[in-house]
Parts: sequence; structure tokens; C-alpha cells
Amino acid sequence: MDTVEVFNGIRFPGFIHTQESLRAACSFLFQDKDILLVTFPKSGTTWMQQVLSLIFCQGHLWPIHHIPNWQRAPWLEQSNLVKMLGSLDPGQPRLLTSHLNAEALGPAVLRSKARVIYMARNPKDVLVSFYHFHKLANFLPDPNSFEDFVDEFLEGKGFFGSWFEHVKGWLGLKPDLNMLFVTYEELHQEPRTTLQKLSDFLGHPLKSEEEDFVLEHCSFSFMSQSSMVNYSLVPKEVMDTSRGRFLRKGVMEDWKKHFSPEQNEKFNAIYQAKMGDLGLHLPWT
Ligand code: PPS
Repeated sequence: MDTVEVFNGIRFPGFIHTQESLRAACSFLFQDKDILLVTFPKSGTTWMQQVLSLIFCQGHLWPIHHIPNWQRAPWLEQSNLVKMLGSLDPGQPRLLTSHLNAEALGPAVLRSKARVIYMARNPKDVLVSFYHFHKLANFLPDPNSFEDFVDEFLEGKGFFGSWFEHVKGWLGLKPDLNMLFVTYEELHQEPRTTLQKLSDFLGHPLKSEEEDFVLEHCSFSFMSQSSMVNYSLVPKEVMDTSRGRFLRKGVMEDWKKHFSPEQNEKFNAIYQAKMGDLGLHLPWT
């Protein structure tokens, strides 16, 4: 189950990625109406997929209750893409998802006017969430120790590559793309304002009662109970939910319960060296 597909020097789970699917994503033909969600894993992808579906579902909960997130907003690089695209509603803009970095996917997106939502999260919380996910997902190797996992993350050698390069790469393309940069933390702390920012960017402003409806159905409690987004539909051989939950905690700063003072210091020094010149205020800096 935990086979590996190496593409552009980056490891991807072989379970759902092939060389062909990864190559095909890099030459994907975007339509100008497409909406592409890009994230490094564990940055709030599923949450944002839910928000985007809700913005466009016009109050009809049928897709929210009956279509899983991976079918509503399929991953471009996964081997089931063609099948998933075939089941999208032709009357709606296509919601697409990717964990690919800017070097790989940027050129294809730049050839269109597709709207891109880049969602980032405090990398320390990404790391912690990813660490627990490695224990849950049978298509990823079990982590040796938290210590080793921190080192691998900081070296950018884990699955899906370097968080630092991912964020910097996509931010570098922002001036040339129709892109909105949002953070997990904004959505957590100011859900309504962030929803308004998103719906304005998507050219789909919502009335106040529609906002209430979206916020209710993208809450952690609603999503935890929904088999369409909590990955309980996935067989146990793929994700062993007896070892944890996909929607694990859904909080900010859980890293404080995991990092030792030494790990934190090391992380901060590397973060500063790699991201210090960005000149961007992020909620975790
Ligand atoms: S994946 O595997 O890359 O698609 O994972 P991803 O969806 O990006 O990230 C999973 C984390 O997002 C949290 N999550 C939420 N937090 C708050 N509110 C809502 N509604 C929500 N939905 C998902 C999820 O719990 C994972 O974070 P952790 O820290 O592990 O709890």
C-alpha cells in the first residue's frame, strides 16, 4: 500500500499517483472559469473544498450530503482524475484541487485565467497534522519518531516536498495569476470576513443568511460527522480510523503540545532563513 512515486525529485504516495497522472496534471488544460484550490497537505484543503462547494450549491445540500469532497473538487494529480472530471456538474465552474508545487503546476495555470485560491497554514501545525496523518494513512510510511519527522520536514524531504518551497513558489506567481492567498488561521479566527473575501473573489457574493448557511455546514463539528468529508467512506486498509481521525482536532497552535523548546528554536531559525525575506505578514509570524 505505501508504494512511492518520485516525480521531479519529490515523493508522492503511489497508491493514488502515477508518473502518468502527475505528468498529466502538469499539462492540464484549464478553462478560464475553473477554480483551483492549491495547498500543501494538511493546510485545510478539505475545509476549503467544503466552503467552495457550499458557496456554489445555492442552498441545496444534496451534493454536500451525497458527493464526497474528492469528487466535488478532484485532485488534478491523482490517477482517478478523468473519472472524477466526468462526474462534475457541467452547469457549475469546475472546482479543482492540487498539492503540486508552483514549479510543476504553475506553467499550466499561467496559460489560463483560472481563479486560484492558495491556502496556507502555520507550518508547525501542518507538520503536527501531517505527523498524525502518517500514522492513520496506510499509503504513507509510519513516522519513526516526532524528532525525525521534524528534521525531514525542515529539510523538505517528506512526502509532497518542501512546505517552504511550496508557499514561496506559489506566492512568487501571485502577481501573474488571478490568485487569492488565504490562511487556515484567518478562516478559523474570522470565518465570516474570510468567507466574504472568498465569495467576492469568486464573483459570487452571498447574502447574510447564505453566509450563515455556509458557516454552519463547514464547521468542524458538522464536517466531523459528515461521511462526505471525514474520510469514513475510505476502506480501513487505506485509512485506519481506529488509529485516529482525519478531522483530528481542527485547532490552531496544537504544535505547542508537540514541539520541545529545542525543536521550536531550530524550526524558527530555519523558518527565518528560508522565509525571512518574504516581507509578508502571516498570522503565525
Ligand atoms: S489533506 O490530507 O491534505 O487533504 O488534509 P487537509 O484537509 O489539508 O488538512 C486536514 C486538517 O484540516 C483540519 N480541518 C479543519 N479545521 C477546522 N475546521 C474545519 N472545519 C476543518 N476541516 C478540516 C483537520 O482537522 C486537519 O487538521 P488537524 O490539525 O490534524 O486537526
